Amino acid sequence: KRVGVLISGSGTNLQALIDATFDTSRNIGAEIVLVISNKKNVEGLKRAERANIPTMVISHGSYGSREEYDRRLDAELQSFQVDIVCLAGFMRILSAEFTKKWSGKLINIHPALLPSFKGTHAQRQALEAGVKVTGCTAHFVEADVDAGAIIAQESVPVDVGETEETLTEKIKVAEHKIFPYALQLVATEKVKIGTDNKLIWSL
Ligand code: GRF
Repeated sequence: KRVGVLISGSGTNLQALIDATFDTSRNIGAEIVLVISNKKNVEGLKRAERANIPTMVISHGSYGSREEYDRRLDAELQSFQVDIVCLAGFMRILSAEFTKKWSGKLINIHPALLPSFKGTHAQRQALEAGVKVTGCTAHFVEADVDAGAIIAQESVPVDVGETEETLTEKIKVAEHKIFPYALQLVATEKVKIGTDNKLIWSL
């Protein structure tokens, strides 16, 4: 399957996806053919360039609406014949039109155990709630933010003295494991989304 990855920043999850898809022994069933960032000069773009993956920067500045921006995204993904889109730290909400069109082909990684701590600063939310376990979630994306069907999760303990920074780093280690795994499940069609927004497994 041909994969497009959308990023906004450091791209450590993108790196995990690159490493996994380049590792022939893992049979991820996917090849990253395009990386799009909404921010220029970010580290994630350099990671893609180092791996010889085509990159593109689409800044939101020149677009009148979210829908207009997303139509451009969609057009670029189509022109690279992308089958699956991975959101790897893409810090923009996608329009209902886009998420509907890519339903079942659009996956995101979120730094909490959904449905807890949706939205931004999930690690800070976990610390403020005082939970002793948090983690990360790979899920299909639906129009509602962080609300799609869950594909994979991994837990991470919240230790005494944990800070937002230390927790973020620990969660990233777990993200780098489950995001490539979730991509593999989708790319090899071991998991699909049903009409009721529930998963259909064929393991
Ligand atoms: C990750 O923590 C991910 O869960 C969130 O954004 C962060 C992206 O980090 N959606 P990176 O750019 O992959 O390093």
